[in-house]
Amino acid sequence: MGVKVALGIQWGDEGKAKIVDYLSSESDLVVRFQGGANAGHTVIVGDEKFILHLIPSGIIYNKDVLIGSGVVADLKSLTEEMEYLKNKGIDISKIYIDKRVHLVLPYHKILDGLKESKNKNSSIGTTKRGIGPAYSDKASRVGIRLYDLFDRTYVEEKVKEILEEKNFIIKNFYNFQPLDFNELMDELYYYFDIIKEHIVDEIEIIDRYLYDNKNILLEGAQGTMLDIDFGTYPFVTSSNTISGYTTIGAAIPLKSINEIIGIMKAYTTRVGNGPFPTEDTEEIGEFLRNKGNEYGATTGRPRRCGWLDLKAVKYAVRLNNITSIALTKIDVLTGLDKIKIAVDYKIDGESVYSYPVSELEYRKIELEYIELDGWNEDISYIKSFDDLPKNTQKFIKFIEDYLNVPINIISVGPLRRQTFIK
Ligand code: GDP
Ligand code: IMO
Ligand code: MG
Repeated sequence: MGVKVALGIQWGDEGKAKIVDYLSSESDLVVRFQGGANAGHTVIVGDEKFILHLIPSGIIYNKDVLIGSGVVADLKSLTEEMEYLKNKGIDISKIYIDKRVHLVLPYHKILDGLKESKNKNSSIGTTKRGIGPAYSDKASRVGIRLYDLFDRTYVEEKVKEILEEKNFIIKNFYNFQPLDFNELMDELYYYFDIIKEHIVDEIEIIDRYLYDNKNILLEGAQGTMLDIDFGTYPFVTSSNTISGYTTIGAAIPLKSINEIIGIMKAYTTRVGNGPFPTEDTEEIGEFLRNKGNEYGATTGRPRRCGWLDLKAVKYAVRLNNITSIALTKIDVLTGLDKIKIAVDYKIDGESVYSYPVSELEYRKIELEYIELDGWNEDISYIKSFDDLPKNTQKFIKFIEDYLNVPINIISVGPLRRQTFIK
């Protein structure tokens, strides 16, 4: 197996954690390489449901897991997640966290929320987990990294200086209550003491697993259309979500990557604001939301829903160098008379090559759809492609032909056993 990457190729919530859990059975180390606690990853085993935010989903399979340097971590959230897993009987001793990880501090979360509430018209609809402000501070070189915490004097000096500026903005621009320095430091060190034994150098860990010919699985968070550079900017998250970032966010040598699995659901959803060409705000959207239980795993917000957008997926396949696809939630489409798929975008009558890049273009998108016949049979217990209804097979074949990539894994329900290889 070597190194596999599994990531979302739509707007997030594709069912990544379910597929990562499935792939974990043959992995030795599962790694997160970007994002933070904005992610909400659901794994269901038997009648037990787990929702993970920062810890790689491989932990449920009792695999070693690494939070890579590209992640921004809120230590409170991390500690709570570790406690949550421990209480559910999961072994948390093999959680590694890279020492370069940037911290999400209380002022990041507060500023994320304040900015969202103040700028109602241009709000992104973030998860308010402090992700944007933390990555901004990383780029501005005023971020605090995990390893810094071993030197409290150094961190206190830095945070004191940074907090002066943050509090000025919180108080004077947002008219909100400033943060107390001592409280912030005490809380930070309370959580640091709990997690510090898990801190490692990811380069050493990755090299050791590679040298021992162990299998490494990289777990994406969010999805390609939320990528800071290639997504629907500015309505994106603040990290790079595409496969190329694994080499930065987890120090994975490029040449060691064998497989890049794109995880996509059989329709489209999006949480938060921003362009969503195939969105259906009426009957179909409602059907998908109810049947697919499309509510955010992190914030509980209802997800916006619509038909599968293959134009966007094809762009994601190209950007990630996808070698195969895991298709999820086709069971949700059961019962629809007709199923539509967007296959092209036109702007001013011209077909678009990659993906529109600005509000000016997003507004002008005209969709071209094809329509396929649906199916009524319950497919949630099916275990092979040949046993699927003919129309489901046609739906899957259409996607493969359009994308020119094989669909190797099919998911027909949220449970571990509702997954099969095509
Ligand atoms: P992630 O962020 O990509 O890991 O996805 P989420 O966990 O946020 O959302 C996916 C939801 O769909 C979860 O509630 C999963 O349990 C559920 N799910 C995953 N695969 C399937 C599937 O094939 N069919 C159905 N009906 N539900 C699925
Ligand atoms: P998983 O890993 C879906 C969205 C937010 C918002 C935008 C920016 O579960 O697929 P942020 O808090 O990152 O600054 O918000 O990105 N978003 C997600 N949408 N799934 C996610 O993660 C998301 N993480 C962030 O809703 O539109
Ligand atoms: Mg999710």
